[in-house]
Amino acid sequence: MNDLYILGIESSCDDTSIAVLYRRKVLANVTANQEIHAQYGGVVPEWASRAHQQNMVPTLQAALQQSGVSLEQLSAVSFTASPGLLGSLLVGASFAKSLAMARNLPLLAVNHLEAHILAHFIEGPQAAPDLPFLCLTVSGGHTQIVLVEDIGQYRLLGETIDDAAGEAFDKAAKIMGLPYPGGPLIDQYAREGDPFRFSFSKPSIPDLNYSFSGLKTSFLYFLQKQVKENPDFIAQHLADLCASLQRTIVEILLEKVREAVRQTGVKRVALAGGVSANSALRQMLLQTAAEQDWRVHIPPPAYCTDNGAMIAITGYYQYLRGDFATLEHPVKAREPLVS
Ligand code: KG4
Ligand code: ZN
Repeated sequence: MNDLYILGIESSCDDTSIAVLYRRKVLANVTANQEIHAQYGGVVPEWASRAHQQNMVPTLQAALQQSGVSLEQLSAVSFTASPGLLGSLLVGASFAKSLAMARNLPLLAVNHLEAHILAHFIEGPQAAPDLPFLCLTVSGGHTQIVLVEDIGQYRLLGETIDDAAGEAFDKAAKIMGLPYPGGPLIDQYAREGDPFRFSFSKPSIPDLNYSFSGLKTSFLYFLQKQVKENPDFIAQHLADLCASLQRTIVEILLEKVREAVRQTGVKRVALAGGVSANSALRQMLLQTAAEQDWRVHIPPPAYCTDNGAMIAITGYYQYLRGDFATLEHPVKAREPLVS
């Protein structure tokens, strides 16, 4: 148990990422981004699988080299088993299984959504959240509010009924003619813009669930109307459009978090997933936290977007409780966090 080196392999979407952890400490976390999707305005599953196939071995070699850990020293192999793009998951799972078989290592099958949450437990300068805490997971594929009662014990309080928050950013960016992924670009342009210049419709859903498809439609119709009158409307108002859209998405996200805190009485709020990199979301969450006396936890950006380290830390906890997978373990495109 003392020399626990866990390998983490993430391949659920468009990034191949492999990490080596020594217990909870990251020794290497190497990510090969796939540029190929930008020209198609979104992730093309077929291309993603092929790119994983190409990137997997070089990414492992780089991770081992950076960590200074050899294959012989590894204690276990963890991999993303669900949810995600099936072809992409199959590449990572097959690779992980081959490695585990060749080196006679235990295998750990990880749920990607749980991994986003457990990224908070990676050793670092910030303290891990005390339990229980609320986690808002916001990524390109998911939007959830989860009550984390313990590691491995979760209560799903709400989730999106249509688009994810990252998808809302990316689709709006596409409407404005920006390349994929548009979220970071909207964040960048919004810095120069007026967040109250335009207003877009917000969903009115009574529970803790989210919906972003109405906002996307209202944004699309608004722009179609404006561009008919002035073909240069988007270019002339890009910063204000980005700032106003971003404010709306962040307000939608935080309204439900406020309600979740009210309902549970838990005042520790954590962010997870790629959209946690958004500067307005961070700023408004910190502001709300100061007003409401919440404790906020936001992992470093490298552990917010998809990464091997979060898969390895989840694998680490599974290893400690002896929750190993067999070589027959299936991958699943869909799999809830709480079953
Ligand atoms: O967690 P992640 O890397 O992958 C998924 O599991 O989906 O999240 C990627 C998503 C994309 O939709 C991307 O546009 C969004 O996170 N994103 C952002 C920002 N950085 C990444 N959205 C808004 N503002 C950002 N700064
Ligand atoms: Zn993710």
